[in-house]
Amino acid sequence: MFAAARLAGRASSVAVAAAIAAPRQVATRALASNAAAATAVAAAQAQSQTQAQASSSSATQTNKSILPPVPEMVAMYKKYLMNTYDRPDVVFVRGEGLSLFDSAGQEYLDFYAGIAVTALGHNNPIVNRALAEAQPLLHLGNLFHSAPAIFLAKELVTSTAWADKAFFCNSGTEANEGALKFARKWGNTADPSLNKNQIVAFKGGFHGRTMGSLSATHNPAYQAAFQPLIPNNLVGTFNDLQSASDLVSDRTCAVIVEPIQGEGGVYPATAEFLAHLRKLCDQHNALLIFDEIQCGVGRTGHLWAHSAPQFNGVQPDIMTLAKPLANGLPVGAILVRDRVSELIKPGDHGTTFGGGPGVCNVARAVLGEVQQLLPKMQTNIKRFDEILESLRQQFPKVVLDVRGIGFLRGVELTAEYTAKQVQQEALRHGIVMITAGKNVLRLTPPLIVGEPQLERLRTALTSIFKSIKPAA
Ligand SMILES: Cc1ncc(COP(=O)(O)O)c(C=O)c1O
Repeated sequence: MFAAARLAGRASSVAVAAAIAAPRQVATRALASNAAAATAVAAAQAQSQTQAQASSSSATQTNKSILPPVPEMVAMYKKYLMNTYDRPDVVFVRGEGLSLFDSAGQEYLDFYAGIAVTALGHNNPIVNRALAEAQPLLHLGNLFHSAPAIFLAKELVTSTAWADKAFFCNSGTEANEGALKFARKWGNTADPSLNKNQIVAFKGGFHGRTMGSLSATHNPAYQAAFQPLIPNNLVGTFNDLQSASDLVSDRTCAVIVEPIQGEGGVYPATAEFLAHLRKLCDQHNALLIFDEIQCGVGRTGHLWAHSAPQFNGVQPDIMTLAKPLANGLPVGAILVRDRVSELIKPGDHGTTFGGGPGVCNVARAVLGEVQQLLPKMQTNIKRFDEILESLRQQFPKVVLDVRGIGFLRGVELTAEYTAKQVQQEALRHGIVMITAGKNVLRLTPPLIVGEPQLERLRTALTSIFKSIKPAA
């Protein structure tokens, strides 16, 4: 009885998956290998077709009739998934460009982009085509050559003014882990007595959740429960030249910094600070690592955040990338100068999935498309600036500050209001956004955002700021 119920449950969840992916013949065909699933798929398709004929509205109606009600889904989430995120009671089933659709068919405007990931929006045809093209060889493993990784590496390296080589991995934290390992080898090679092993990072920085990256993410909320962390990680004050001078020494193997801190509240580095870090690293033979996992790949309106004119052309020795690089498929990259890559030998570092032909083919397409988009983005970035600045001026009692560059923006609220309050209200207005700490709204729309969507954001925030009450 129990087993039968579980099987039925599995079949119906396949039906849900099939309905969500209704137009994707390939996904449907793969799922149909299981007999129970095949029945469910056929039922879902028949139901979907009938509904499509009966109703002029979209596939979300189909999803609504197949998915369990939202409270049931939320209860299942609580029962079966670890409690690592605090999520609102909405189940998203589909995306199209900047729109997300929930299980009731309600449309929302996405100013979140899966935390700065879906740069080209949802269900993007260029991404879909690159993935379809890659299907004959999705995975190979790193013991053999495949073309997409080679082409992607060439395109990444040649699109910077300084990098010589790339290493591919699967996520942001993994990119930083690799960069920190390379830095350790740099230090240990320069000083075989193993005394050049300190890593300097900054308050407010976020570099990931795995042990190496976490040890460089000096936020008690993330670190406290996981002590002891990796030693020889020092923390300075962001944008404070003296603080950096006090920490960087001949014992430093690397300094890691985000040109724009995302998670920490959307704070851009000053050009002077980055230039000072460059100088300190050169003086002490340490590597400068730019973590562009959130701020890179076009988000600032420039391909690399550090190539935005605000930063006066300061260049790192290593840059880490991830989030938007394959528009939602897991990928990370570490770009390095030759003097770093020369130290790394076969066997020093590796990954099973990183640099797979499927994800690299998609990343190549994304990189090309983002480069094409950059000139077109400038007008919308200007409009976004104007809208945020006018909100700041219109609501001085609610908005304390507006920060960031391009489409990585933070709206800091005054102490009476919390970002979570506004985030929840925005969801009721059909806008998805996230926060960065207690008081900062983080706006990271897909880079394809246009004037009408920016206007919708303005209208929603105007209405919210007019009626908001101080947090209890
Ligand atoms: C600047 C920065 N570095 C690293 C990471 C970690 O990336 P991931 O979550 O892919 O491990 C993040 C994620 O938010 C980030 O914003």
